[in-house]
Amino acid sequence: MQAKAEQQRRGGRLRQRLLGLAADLSVHKLQLAVTVTPAAASLLPALAVAALILLIAAARRAPAPSSLDAYRTGVAVVDPPSISAPPRGSAAAAAARVPPGCDIFRPGEWVPDGAAPYYTNLTCSLIQEHQNCMKYGRPDTGFLRWRWRPAGCDLPRFDAEAFLDAVRDSSMAFVGDSLARNHMQSLMCLLTKVAYPKDISKTTHPEFRTMHYESHNFTVAIFWSPFLVRGYQPDPARHMWAIHLDEPDAAWVPGIAGFDRVVLSAANWFARPAMFYEAGRVVGCHSCLAPGVPDLTHRHSLRMAFRAALRALAGPGAAFGGTVIVRTLSPTSHFEGGEWDKGGDCRRTRPLAAGEARVAGLDRDFHGAQVEEFARAKAAVDAGGRGRPRLVLMDTTAAMVLRPDGHPSRYGHWAHENVTLYNDCVHWCLPGPIDAWNEMLLQMLLQDLLEEIFIPRNSMEAFVFVLFWST
Ligand SMILES: *[C@@H]1O[C@H](CO)[C@@H](O)[C@H](O)[C@H]1NC(C)=O
Ligand SMILES: *[C@@H]1O[C@H](CO)[C@@H](O)[C@H](O)[C@H]1NC(C)=O
Ligand SMILES: *[C@@H]1O[C@H](CO)[C@@H](O)[C@H](O)[C@H]1NC(C)=O
Repeated sequence: MQAKAEQQRRGGRLRQRLLGLAADLSVHKLQLAVTVTPAAASLLPALAVAALILLIAAARRAPAPSSLDAYRTGVAVVDPPSISAPPRGSAAAAAARVPPGCDIFRPGEWVPDGAAPYYTNLTCSLIQEHQNCMKYGRPDTGFLRWRWRPAGCDLPRFDAEAFLDAVRDSSMAFVGDSLARNHMQSLMCLLTKVAYPKDISKTTHPEFRTMHYESHNFTVAIFWSPFLVRGYQPDPARHMWAIHLDEPDAAWVPGIAGFDRVVLSAANWFARPAMFYEAGRVVGCHSCLAPGVPDLTHRHSLRMAFRAALRALAGPGAAFGGTVIVRTLSPTSHFEGGEWDKGGDCRRTRPLAAGEARVAGLDRDFHGAQVEEFARAKAAVDAGGRGRPRLVLMDTTAAMVLRPDGHPSRYGHWAHENVTLYNDCVHWCLPGPIDAWNEMLLQMLLQDLLEEIFIPRNSMEAFVFVLFWST
């Protein structure tokens, strides 16, 4: 009984969403007209008319609010316009989208944006101390007034209502290091325009928070796991880490089981000197200078850690059935004038132009390993024919390489504080360029909304599926 009710509830939700998303069909149809074979194309007018009739019927049968959806499809309906809350899925369906075929990640450039920023340290109380650059006296604000523009299209502005609508009744986990937390805090600040979350964490550990948006039944959580696999310091005095390359970190693996989406990221911590273990035995190291132990470098540990983490999420027998979003590294290369611990700093006040920097050196190697391991995991899922979990790449690195101006530098703490904090050229000020990650994430979700319902191989299939669904 209960299962049936749940199924109906979900079915109703999908239908609502589909009705909203039907607005997209006009685009698909236009595309089809130019891309499908002549034989298939000759079917289209008939299909279109049938779909229209069925959509009208569905809209009439559905509760009053869905009439708003019908307006968007250009169909006149007799129901009076509703003045109650907009129907589920409508904000997401109405949100601005990048045109199909536009790569939002690269190439592109940062262009001036008079409307930024979305929030300040006064309107968002969820900013981590060390990223609250305004509070700690960062004198320039010009770095806030840029937005990412992919070549060939505009990345729509963040729409908090649409985001919450797209993630309604779902959950998202961020897994990684302090940059994952930086990302999640940016998201929560962007969402303050609509709602503040309630902290429903089961622990008091600051790096494991679970936040709930009651209004949209959206849960977002952060799991601290800087190596993604098991890593610890056997002897803190020696600065040497132990990384078990084949053991996905228990700090997140059981925890994410029921989540709908996982945003996976890691990079910076691999720079630390470490011994590498596999099956419990030392197999190599990074900067250990131990006789007889091969230095496999941190390129190896990062690659193997991603492989293990993706296997835990998407490999044979993995229980996770949602969407895995692999976010590529945030640049490690923004220190100028020295290494991070030797006086290096990041004091620029404006972005670099498109050709001025590219992903290079260690960043390029890390990025390459992440993209390759992502592709490898995705190929395995595809070969398995399960279609689950879905794996998507969030390739933010190229955009962020151009933003050496977006870090706290020395404005992550009071100037007079006697702290041993180095200039921070790793994290991002909030507000700041990292907010663009959530503009990107929203676009990925809008795409996901279409694909989670039916995974069409082409527009024709999508069209026919909607036709079928609405009957
Ligand atoms: C916000 O930033 C301003 C400077 O722009 C600072 O004076 C104020 O203390 C900060 N407030 C908070 C709550 O961070
Ligand atoms: C809230 O969302 C969760 C998924 O995060 C879902 O399992 C649950 O059924 C939802 N609750 C309601 C009342 O819809
Ligand atoms: C700052 O700390 C260092 C060691 O932690 C100490 O030697 C120094 O006197 C301190 N400086 C101030 C101004 O408190």
